[in-house]
Amino acid sequence: MKKKRFQTLDDYDVFRKVVLVRADLNVPMQNGVITDMTRIERFAPTLYELSSKGAKVVILSHFGRPKNGRDESQSLGPVGNALEGVLGQPVGFVVDCIGPTVLHAISDMTPGQILLLENTRFYPEEEQNDPTFAAQLAALGQLYVNDAFSAAHRAHASTEGLAHHLPTMAGRLMQAELEALEKTLGEAQHPVMAICGGSKISTKLALLNNLVSRVDILVLGGGMANTFLAANGVNIGRSLCEHDMLGQAREIQKRAKEVGCQIYLPGDAVVAEKLEAGQKVQTVPINAIPADQMVLDIGPGSIKAIMKALDDCPTLLWNGPLGAFEVSPFDTATTSIAKNVAERTKTKKLLSVAGGGDTVAALAKAGVAKNALTYVSTAGGAFLEWLEGKELPGVAALFLNR
Ligand code: 3PG
Repeated sequence: MKKKRFQTLDDYDVFRKVVLVRADLNVPMQNGVITDMTRIERFAPTLYELSSKGAKVVILSHFGRPKNGRDESQSLGPVGNALEGVLGQPVGFVVDCIGPTVLHAISDMTPGQILLLENTRFYPEEEQNDPTFAAQLAALGQLYVNDAFSAAHRAHASTEGLAHHLPTMAGRLMQAELEALEKTLGEAQHPVMAICGGSKISTKLALLNNLVSRVDILVLGGGMANTFLAANGVNIGRSLCEHDMLGQAREIQKRAKEVGCQIYLPGDAVVAEKLEAGQKVQTVPINAIPADQMVLDIGPGSIKAIMKALDDCPTLLWNGPLGAFEVSPFDTATTSIAKNVAERTKTKKLLSVAGGGDTVAALAKAGVAKNALTYVSTAGGAFLEWLEGKELPGVAALFLNR
């Protein structure tokens, strides 16, 4: 029998209880308009479930990074309206997250009702994980559900501190994120391939170092591959490269060899003079990059090689685009691989998990629906820190003994 590792909504009777649910409603917003509803949509099932089980559901979340207390431009009020739209059910809102007004609103709630509290970061004590503030939050309810995997890398009062005060369980989104990640690195079926792209290795050193010891094939693309190529003596023309990281790139490759992880670097590249649409574009072998050109995508030969390697891999973890995907045609590799991964996932040949801000945007640009992969994480920083092998305080707190 499978060992149960953390408690979930299955483990508590929530009927008539005031349940504090930490969500991550830190959604992208431009001029007051939410530009991506994913986090709200993915959080909704936890809300539905708690509400239909008769809980009095009180939602806590941060929004943005307010630095000086209350700031109307970072109020969660508009997000509450969006949440109401997605749920098709009223969501009350209180302009504070602790204190008498909140307690009063909660005492008026009937089972099944949902109440959203104001941005927890309007109190600096939230980010300080202040124990008194955590106790004030805890005083609002009887049970604590953490559904904010994407904020679990923060040891804040509402993501970590609360677990020291109340019986704690993972919400459905937190549970889904953790189970999906576990299947790609923890209990993965091997060989596991990781595709790692993006522009810089300096921001992903810890990630690369952890991945080489956890996966069987590590495919490198994007600007970061240039740094590896340069470290191997390849002339990369005017391509983006972190010249001060060449030593690190050699170290990672050395370590990969020691532990039997195969690193795939591009064998050909799509180059142009500038990263602009309408440029004259050529495909060249990797050792023939013209001195006045820059690598902006991996070439067709490299795409084929990745797809061929995928034939033997039941598990794929993807973070970061393979080229400068924002500008066509440098999105070709990312798009072709995304479509191929979606196809393999559909035919059950592949368990595919992707995450990180740019990756999600790249999948959307490729026209690959979020549900076309086995799992697409809602997290940016937390996803990366998890892949780096770090303990996330919000996740660790799910295991606190009570
Ligand atoms: C995110 O959007 O990655 C999370 O909500 C965490 O936000 P933060 O980086 O402001 O802590």
